[in-house]
Amino acid sequence: MSLFLNVANVFKQYEGKSILQNCSYDFKEVGIYGLIGPNGGGKSTFLRICSLLESPDRGAVTYTSEGRAVSPDLALKRRITMVQPKVGVFNTSVFRNVAYGLKIRGVPSRLIKEKVLGALDHVGLPHKKDQNALTLSSGETQRLGLARALVVEPEVLFLDEPTASIDPQNTAVIEEIIRKLKREARTLIVMATHDMEQVQRITDRVLRMEQGRISG
Ligand SMILES: Nc1ncnc2c1ncn2[C@@H]1O[C@H](COP(=O)(O)OP(=O)(O)OP(=O)(O)O)[C@@H](O)[C@H]1O
Ligand SMILES: [Mg+2]
Repeated sequence: MSLFLNVANVFKQYEGKSILQNCSYDFKEVGIYGLIGPNGGGKSTFLRICSLLESPDRGAVTYTSEGRAVSPDLALKRRITMVQPKVGVFNTSVFRNVAYGLKIRGVPSRLIKEKVLGALDHVGLPHKKDQNALTLSSGETQRLGLARALVVEPEVLFLDEPTASIDPQNTAVIEEIIRKLKREARTLIVMATHDMEQVQRITDRVLRMEQGRISG
């Protein structure tokens, strides 16, 4: 039972300035969607609105399952995750940072341990589990963000520049994780990136966002 997303005629302003202008896109297949375009073009804003972290001024963001609209409640929000580069590291261990999403979902602690260690292993951070998350390097912090998303097994995953400050070797690891999520977990993935080679390597479709409008 996959979750799909339809974005219809979305507008957004900040402080009277138009950021998104009539954005529409039908994410109707599982796949990796690349979102490209210049700085300030509206990519991050679009991802926050798609992931229900923010509301559009006008227009609709509708999730569907088996052809029917799913109401935008907490249960739906828990099936969707967004990884933002600078957001949401708690002043506690790496382990607890990853465990948080499972705790609030009421997962039993034995299972939490297994899943957290599995997710840290996946992103190459198992040796950091007891370190305070605020002391990680920027690339490690980005990988922590990904581990926090992976651990809750989202059906739709939004990634805002997931490899922006990551070295080539770890970028390859993360790209493989993203591919595997699509292939094995059938996750719908929307990823903003400035890395055009990455777009070539892993995306199935490309959306270009410029001055608040989508093309492509
Ligand atoms: N909360 C906010 N308040 C005011 N302006 C904002 C806010 N969030 C974003 N903006 C502005 O909206 C515009 C689009 O920003 P956004 O972060 O969506 O662009 P982007 O395409 O992700 O850019 P980048 O490639 O640099 O990440 C920018 O001009 C930004 O300054
Ligand atoms: Mg951005």
